[in-house]
Amino acid sequence: MPPGSVPALDGPIGVFDSGLGGLTVVREMIAQMPGEAIIYVGDSCHAPYGTHGEAAIRAFSLEITRFLLDRYRCRGIVVACNTATSAAAETLRFQLPVPVVGMEPAVKPAAAVTKTGKVGILATVGTLSSARFAALLTRFEGDGTVEFLMQPCPGLPEAVEEGRADTPETRALVEKYVLPLLAQGADTLVLGCTHYPVLRPLIAAVAGPGVTLIDTGAAVARRAAALFDIRRPGTKTPGRLTLHTTGDRHAFEGGARAILGEMAENREVFPACKLLWRNGELTTDGTN
Ligand code: DGL
Repeated sequence: MPPGSVPALDGPIGVFDSGLGGLTVVREMIAQMPGEAIIYVGDSCHAPYGTHGEAAIRAFSLEITRFLLDRYRCRGIVVACNTATSAAAETLRFQLPVPVVGMEPAVKPAAAVTKTGKVGILATVGTLSSARFAALLTRFEGDGTVEFLMQPCPGLPEAVEEGRADTPETRALVEKYVLPLLAQGADTLVLGCTHYPVLRPLIAAVAGPGVTLIDTGAAVARRAAALFDIRRPGTKTPGRLTLHTTGDRHAFEGGARAILGEMAENREVFPACKLLWRNGELTTDGTN
C-alpha cells in the first residue's frame, strides 16, 4: 500500500453511490454526526448501477474506495448504495484497511410493521437478483406469514439523476410499479435503493395514506455513527462535506442542492469536484 493510503485516525468518512442517491444517506449522517467531515463520490457517469453486472460494480467500487483512501485518508467507508453493497461489500471488507458500512433493503423492519402480511420491495434489478439479497430474504421469510413481493424499478434512478423527480412521466412509472403491489394487498413498501427516498413524496402520493414506506438511510447513519463518531460527538460546528461526481458537474450540483437543502449551507459543499475515469482509474480533471 502506498504511504498516502494509510488511513488517518482522524480522517474523514468516505461515502459513495452510483450518483445522487447516496446523498439521501449523507443527509441522515449529517443529522446524526453534524461535526464529521464527509467525502462523497457520485459515480454519475456509470449510473444506473442496476444495469451493470456484479463484476463491473465491484471494479467501480474498489477504484472509488482506493481514491477515497489515497487522496483523503478516509478512516471508514459507507457504501450508500444497495446495489454496490450486494455486488461489492464482501470484497471491500476483505481488501480495505478500514471499516466498511453497507446497506440492504429494510426487509426485517418491514416484516415487523406489515398488518396484511404483504410487503412490496422496490429495488434495482442488480439488488433483487443478488445472492446477498436471496440470503437476506431467506433469513426473514421465517414461518411464511409474511410474503415479499419483489418489484424492480428501472427508470427511477435515471429520473432522479436527470432532475425529473416530479414529472408526469415519473409519476406514471411509479404508478406502474406501485399499483400492482397494492392490488396484491401490500401495506408496506421498502425503498430498497438510495435514489428512491428522493421520490418519496411521489411514491407516498401514489400509495396513499394507509401504506407505510420504509428506507434504511437513518439506520445506516446510526451504524456509521456508532462506528465512526469518535472525535466530535455533540459538536455544533458543521463538518465539511466535499462532493465529487464523475458525471456532469452542473446537473450533479443541482440534484445535490435539492436533496441536501439547508444542510449544504456552511459546509463548503460547492463547487463539486469533477472526476474522470481513465483506463479503469479515477483521476481529477485538473480543475479541482
Ligand atoms: N442508489 C443505488 C442503490 O441504492 C443504485 C441505483 C442505480 O444506480 O441503479 O441501489
